Amino acid sequence: MPHNIKKILIKKNVLERKIRSLADRISRDYRKKNLVLVCVLKGAVVFLSELIKNLSIQFTLDFIQVGSYGKKKIPGKITLKKDIEENVKNKHVLIIEDIIDTGRTLAYIFKLIKKKRPKSIRICSLLDKPSRHEVKVTADYLGFNVPNRFIVGYGIDYNEKFRNLPYIAAVD
Ligand code: IMP
Ligand code: MG
Repeated sequence: MPHNIKKILIKKNVLERKIRSLADRISRDYRKKNLVLVCVLKGAVVFLSELIKNLSIQFTLDFIQVGSYGKKKIPGKITLKKDIEENVKNKHVLIIEDIIDTGRTLAYIFKLIKKKRPKSIRICSLLDKPSRHEVKVTADYLGFNVPNRFIVGYGIDYNEKFRNLPYIAAVD
């Protein structure tokens, strides 16, 4: 365990079991529907790859990336770095995110995709910090609630580090 990792919060096997059950639900809910998974770069890629290995339905895959100016200075100032490329009009979009904190990132992405007139939009997030929400965002598919700590691992970084950890941990 790297020295600055304070505590393992969710182990690999627990993550993988939960992701399998999310994939089962998604496979049931979107059977015979035109599903587009929109993965939020970069943190959600590990979650995405574990999730899609367990999906038994057809789907297409797209990516979106946003940036936020120094969260403390201008809270909620979000910019689009990379838009989705697929035409999602009349299709079912499922946004795949790593973690919901204030909810501002997902609120921004939700609004942006809604303008493209999909048939439906839902959110699937591996983690949620409910005590931190500043805007109303609800994950339709959620892995785990986590406490208000700085989270890393399973794709989630601290200054680009720790994405490779196969578990979810808290740093100091
Ligand atoms: P929000 O816009 O405040 O909901 O923040 C969402 C984004 O901030 C996530 O997609 C993450 O990239 C990042 N984030 C939020 N909390 C954490 C954390 O505890 N560790 C690492 N990144 C985080
Ligand atoms: Mg993210």
